[in-house]
Amino acid sequence: MSLRKILTQGDPALAKACRPVEKFDQKLHWLLDDLKETLANAGGVGLAAPQVGILRRAVVVEDENEQMIELVNPVIISQEGEQDGWEGCLSVPNQYGWVTRPNVVAVRAQDRDGNFFEVTGQELVARCFCHELEHLDGHLFVEHTGELYSPEEIDAMEAAEEDEAKKRPRRKGKRK
Ligand code: NI
Repeated sequence: MSLRKILTQGDPALAKACRPVEKFDQKLHWLLDDLKETLANAGGVGLAAPQVGILRRAVVVEDENEQMIELVNPVIISQEGEQDGWEGCLSVPNQYGWVTRPNVVAVRAQDRDGNFFEVTGQELVARCFCHELEHLDGHLFVEHTGELYSPEEIDAMEAAEEDEAKKRPRRKGKRK
């Protein structure tokens, strides 16, 4: 296994549609192993093959138990509800945007040996399924948001909101 270089926004590989995986061979296993190692090293929650320059439909996503799920040729088969939250990408370093996603997402995919399976994710995992699958069609999360912020800017905004909330009269205060 080895670490691969994560490409950043502007690299043409991130804007291309990926081809399906057809051979479930050692080369695919090395790619999946490298994606997992590269993701763990970067401290992210998902990584798609095009982010390391391989234009094939394969991603890895960390689930709610911090186990990595390998998804080959994944397709979203159902989605429900809605969630809003900050979203970022290892290919767009230090930039986050407020993005609305479905709250529950079911995916059908193949494992590294070609066996089909289905997996359902909620909240962060559902967000990650959507985000990673979009990479396979050459799309980045920045297309879903108007503005991008650094972590420092987000901290400052959230601190300002907390201050503002403290100034508001309490709704459940004592009444005389
Ligand atoms: Ni990403």
